[in-house]
Order: sequence, then structure tokens, then C-alpha cells
Amino acid sequence: MAKFKLFGLRTDDESQREKQHRQLCREVAGEGIVLLKNEGVLPLRNKKIALFGAGARMTVKGGTGSGDMQERYSVSIEQGLRNAGFEIVSTRWLDRFDQYYAQKDKIWRQSIEEKIKTYKPWQVQKMFDEVIHVNPLCFPCGDKIQIEDLSADTDTAIYVVARQAGESADRRFENGDFKLSEEESYNIHSLAEQYEKLLLVINCGGILDLSILNETNNIGAVLYYVQGGEEGGNAFADIVSGKINPSGKITDTWAKRYEDYPSAMDYGYLNGNLKDEDYKEGIYVGYRYFDSFGINPLFEFGFGLSYTTFSHHVSDIHIQKTKVTIKVMITNTGTEFSGKQVLQLYLEKPNGRLCHELRSLVAFVKTKNLKPDENELLTLTFDLCDHASYDEKDSNWVLDQGEYGICLGTSSRQNEPVAVVVLENETVVEKCTSICPMEYDFSELKAEFPIHEYDLNLPRFEVRSDDISYVKHVYENPKIKTNLKTEQLLLNLNDKELIELIVGAGYSGKSFNNTPGCAGRTTVSLLKKSIPNVNFSDGPAGLNLTPKIVILKSGSMRYIDGIPAMWKWGWLKKIEPFVKAKAGRGTPVYQFMTAWPAVTLQAQTWNLPLIEKVGNAVGVEMIETGVTLWLAPGMNIHRNPLCGRNFEYYSEDPILTGMMSSAVSKGVQSHKGIGVTVKHFCCNNQEDNREYVSANIKERALREIYLKGFRYAVEHSNPKAVMSSYNLVNGVYTANSFDLLTKVLRCEWGYDGMTMTDWNSTESDKGKHELCPVCGTDLIMPGSKAAKKALLKGLKNDSINRDDILRCAANVLNMIFESAVIEGF
Ligand code: BGC
Repeated sequence: MAKFKLFGLRTDDESQREKQHRQLCREVAGEGIVLLKNEGVLPLRNKKIALFGAGARMTVKGGTGSGDMQERYSVSIEQGLRNAGFEIVSTRWLDRFDQYYAQKDKIWRQSIEEKIKTYKPWQVQKMFDEVIHVNPLCFPCGDKIQIEDLSADTDTAIYVVARQAGESADRRFENGDFKLSEEESYNIHSLAEQYEKLLLVINCGGILDLSILNETNNIGAVLYYVQGGEEGGNAFADIVSGKINPSGKITDTWAKRYEDYPSAMDYGYLNGNLKDEDYKEGIYVGYRYFDSFGINPLFEFGFGLSYTTFSHHVSDIHIQKTKVTIKVMITNTGTEFSGKQVLQLYLEKPNGRLCHELRSLVAFVKTKNLKPDENELLTLTFDLCDHASYDEKDSNWVLDQGEYGICLGTSSRQNEPVAVVVLENETVVEKCTSICPMEYDFSELKAEFPIHEYDLNLPRFEVRSDDISYVKHVYENPKIKTNLKTEQLLLNLNDKELIELIVGAGYSGKSFNNTPGCAGRTTVSLLKKSIPNVNFSDGPAGLNLTPKIVILKSGSMRYIDGIPAMWKWGWLKKIEPFVKAKAGRGTPVYQFMTAWPAVTLQAQTWNLPLIEKVGNAVGVEMIETGVTLWLAPGMNIHRNPLCGRNFEYYSEDPILTGMMSSAVSKGVQSHKGIGVTVKHFCCNNQEDNREYVSANIKERALREIYLKGFRYAVEHSNPKAVMSSYNLVNGVYTANSFDLLTKVLRCEWGYDGMTMTDWNSTESDKGKHELCPVCGTDLIMPGSKAAKKALLKGLKNDSINRDDILRCAANVLNMIFESAVIEGF
């Protein structure tokens, strides 16, 4: 056995892999940026630009926390414009903003340094969790534009509003966060008056209040840039120059006013109750709410403009049992620009016994790049049974009796019925059991809208109940799953060793497989028992690893050039001389990972093959750095725009979420022996008090909205791991939820991979370590002595069943021995 194994590269030079992935990164960002408004401003004809706004030079590439990245370099919007040959004719405001930012950053650091004085050196992790990660620098907006800041040398101005958020804290419904600050408002109004053409750019990982669009007509164009990753600035220039034609579509509903969202004033900190979050809107999340209740949004789900126009017509529809297939011919009807379009298929359910949403997304497809006049035949398919509704009364998934409208179009509002499916009788598709009982009841929103009436000339298809297969789930404890190798190894382990296997081994220290900066790893204490450790890395904007490190002969690590800037805090700075080394002192390891566009931006591409390519590229980087599990994709639903981690998630829609996450997972798992970890299972839709908040929710909404995407991912992409969430669901920590982790995940969905906790979610007064094995949590992360002690105690006093421990250990062991990185062990 080798002493230890190193990964990464030995040279600091930008590798071919880095360069190739940069190209893909640019392509993804370019396809995801959404053109929300355009009145003759884009593409830009003038090469001279007056550029303003916090995100112009300090473009925010992604969010903070575990979802952050330590990439080699990122291209800002200013740089991207310059690279594309634009001339920036106004830098006075931008230069001033640099100083403004530095000053704000200093004040923020000082405030945190004060707080961390109260922590002792052995509390480093606690300090990070409680202070540093909880306090992202609220991105400053900058000051008011002065007359001297303007340039008369152009008719075109760009203003970039920037925001940043991250785990542990929600965004605020305040000026300077969800709403524009007074200065931003003033600046945008001034530019709207001064310049003939004004482009407003939203560099924010989530929705922003855009009521300013009602205050002035002079904002000619709006781009939703989200956070573009390391190549964002170049992709931005590709769009505004017309090199590529925008084809992104928003994956959330942008309300006219925040108050229009159904959970608005009840959300998180806003109602003063951070312990209980009652999901009173039920299934009416996002466009399901706006459309069902007739509330007009500013921009609807699925919307996005292009520089060209398209037309489509259905060329064939057929149905086989319950599987609907539609063929559509789509044409670029413009004369100047090539472009791509997204076709979206929505289902309208009959308003029968159960109350439904007006319509919901069931399929979508994106065209190739169509030249003017060029056309393409596209296929959209879905299975009616996948869109049954959950009847809480009998714990059944049912299809209501009546007419189902199939609507084709380009957004949740721009679509029209193209066929009708008729089901004679109400039909049960699946028989389940009731899960996650509520601690207390409340009434949910109920929508009432007129029964859909369809044109009698539309094609109609009858579906017979007999054609619908029926599944009755059986709820048994899953079997212990081993193979020849893992069975032998398991037999060879005593109780203490079994427990070592199901408790993580922290982030660093000597191990067989070394991946500096990994977020966690499995035990390093069983190497002599022929069990190597494997490593996990965050996610989801790429692999969040330490880029430069030296490994000494002993296996210990030292930082090349000192500790990363983000760690230079308070007394921590004092340890720098001891952890710093030159590359010559040991083996250097370079791991410059690609910072992909924020997940929401990826989703806005609506391009599944492209996102699969991203997954594939992440897989290449995992193999290069020895990572076995990627702690991604993040799959929580955008329930409310203030959630601090929305940038890490795809959409308000569960099907889009499920499809996107499956695409990226397939890409990663196309490499043998590495895998994804879908997270955070489930209802982690709030960051304030995330470790103690209970998502109180009725079963139907839980299943139809918050579990649906996970189900899709499990059934279509077989993720190697699932991570539970920090929060409770109806008063039960998800890591301790037998209902979620065993009844739903394993018994109903047939999942047979590994499950893990979110970091420290079973420590101290949160979930319980000792309940993990029986409930279906295989691995406690990142691991602690307390966890091992609690499990051992439980085994000794028989409150924990050894079979439960064995089952967890087998799942962990299978994952380890399937790993690509254990070769040479
Ligand atoms: C986050 C997870 C992440 C983990 C490891 C937690 O704080 O919620 O998403 O994977 O840390 O870094």
C-alpha cells in the first residue's frame, strides 16, 4: 500500500483542461443570460460605453459559503467588454467604487474580527460556522453618480446592479438588497435621462425588485446576468455585441411587487418567527400561484427575449397508453440573427375532486442554433402518470377524471392548447402511506378557476383506466446490500470500527487519498483494515478546493504563498508562518477548478445536453483531484426570492429542477467511480436559523412540490449520494426522518445509494446521532467524537440495532469500493 496518494497538478501553469472548461463555461453563461427587455438597445451598435454600477468592475461571479469557488481568475463585465473591443469612456465612478468597496470591506472585517476574539484557537470551525460564514459582506451599492462621472462621448450606458448572498443568511426585503438602494435608484434615473440607450444589468443570484421599470420608460434594455462564473464577463460581451443571440429563459416568476408572492410577508424573518415556517401556500408556488390566482407578474416563468423571432406548428401528436409525444416544427422567422428557442409544454388538469394549479410544466426542449429561415423538427414527450396529484385523504397518487389540456408555447403564459387527453374515470396510480405528520394544522390556499373549455377541433385522445399501471408500495426495512468484497470487509470489523465507517473524518489531516480543501472525507482510521478514505467536495458551482498547496514528506500540508485570503482572520493570521511553505519544500499540488455560472444561470439555459457537458467536465476535475463525491447538485425549490441560497438551486419548478439536476448528474456519473450528492433533502428553503427552523407543510405540497424534483433525480440519474437538510420537516430533523429517508426515498423510489447528513446537523442540540442509523442516514458528516460516542453507547445498551449500523456501513463501503480513486491502495 502506498503511504498516501496525491492528485492535482504539479505545475502552476494554466492547463489545457482549464482552458477547455473556460470555453464551456463561457458557452453556458452565454446561453443562460436572459434578455428581459429590449427596445432597440441590444445588440449594441456603439463601441463606446459609459459603464457604471457595483457589478461592472467587481462583477459577482457567484455566491458565498460552501457554494463559493477559489478559481484562478474571473472575467468581470468591464474586462469582458474590453476584451471584445469595447471602449469604456467613463471610469471615474468605477475607480471611486473601488475605494468605496475597500472601505466597506474594512469596516466589515473589523466588525467580524471583534466577534472572533471571543473564540479560542480550537474553535476555528465553530468560528467559521457561526461568524464568518454567517456574515457575508453585504455587497455595497456605491455612491451617487456626479455630473463629472458621465461621458458625453457616447449615447450608450450600462448600469450593473450587484448583490451577493450565501448560506446561513437570507436576503433582506430592504433597500440595497431586494430593493434598489436610494443611490442606485438615483443613478439609474440619471443615466436614463442622460443617455439615449440604457442597459440595466442584474448581477444577482436571485430576483430583484424592478419597479423602477414602471417609474421611467427610458431603461431601454434589461439583462438578467445572474452570476456568471469565471467567464461571465466574456459571455456578457458575447451577448451585448450580438456575437451570440440571447436564448436564456427565466426559471422563476418575477413579481411586480415582492408582496405579490404568496409567502411574502410570512417568510423567514419578516413575520418575526424564525422557528416555524408554515407553507400555507401549499402547491401554489411560483407560477402555479400567479397563474392560478390571476396575478400578473412582471416577467413570467419561462420568459426570455431574443434578437430574432420564431414560429412553430405541431406536426404530429400521438399517445401510447399514457405517454404523450408531440412533434413540432420550429422556424427562425427573423432575417438577421441566428438563434435558439425553448419550447415548453404545460399540462392543465381537470378541476375535479382535487384542486389543482392552473397549469404546470411537463416537458421542454431547446433548438439548435437556427439560421434565419432555418427550421428544426423537435420532439416533446411526457407521461401523464408522472403528473398525478397526491390525495392526502387516501395516501394515493391519482389522476382525476376529465379533460387534460396539453399546451405548447414559450412561457407559462405564452402557450395554447394543442391537444386534449380525456380520462373516463378517476384512477389511482400509486398507493402510498401517509408521511411526515404535522404538529399542528393550518388552512392552505385553494384556487378556484373556471373549468377549462377546449376547442372541439383540437385532437382528442382517450385514455382508459385499464391502460394505467398501478403500484402499491411496500414499506419494509431495506436489506443490507453488499458484494463479495464489502461483505468480507464488514465481517472483519468490530463495533467500534463499524462506527468509524459511518462517521466522517473531518476535512483535513493525514489520509490515504489527499484532496486539499475537500469539505469532508470518510474515515482514515481503517487503512490497516484495507479500507481507504474517499473525499467529498462542494459544490455546486464547481469543485470548491484549495488551489495551491505543498504536501510534505510526512503527508502534512502547507499553503503555498500563505493561507488563502478568506482565512486571514484575527488571530488566525498569526498561524500563517507555521502553515506557509515554498513549493520546493514538498510536493506542490495545484487544483485550479472551474467556477461555473451560478446554478440558476445554468438552469436558465434550458439546455439539458449542455448541462450534461458541465457535469462531464466537473467529473474530469473530480478525477484530476481525487474527489469521489461532489456535494451537488443543490435541488431546493425557490419558494421565496429572499432565500439566501437560491443561486445554488435551479428554479421554483420541481420538474425543471429534477431534469436539470439529472442532466448534470448524468454528466458526472458518466465517469466510472465518482458521483453526485443531491441535496438538501428536503425543504431547506430558508437560511436564517436554518438549523432550527421547522418547515411545516401538508403532505400534498411536500410531495408535489418539494419532493418531486428529488424523485425525478433518483429515478432518472441514480445519484450516488443524497444529503439531508439542516431544517426540520413538521418538527422532525430530516436526518432523523424515517419517513423521508426510508419510506419515501428507499421504499417508494427504490433508492439504493448512500445518504449523509448536512454538516453538523446532528451535533449538540440539533438532530440526534443515535437516530441516524434506524432512520436511514448512513453517514454522519463531517463527523465528531460525540457522534461516535453516541453510536457506540447505543449499540452497547441495545437502543441501536446492529443491523441498522451494518446496513449504513455497507452503503458507505459500497460507495468507497466503487470509487475511482482507490486504485493503488
Ligand atoms: C452546506 C452544504 C455543504 C456542506 C459542506 C453545509 O454548510 O449546507 O451544502 O455541502 O456545508 O461544506
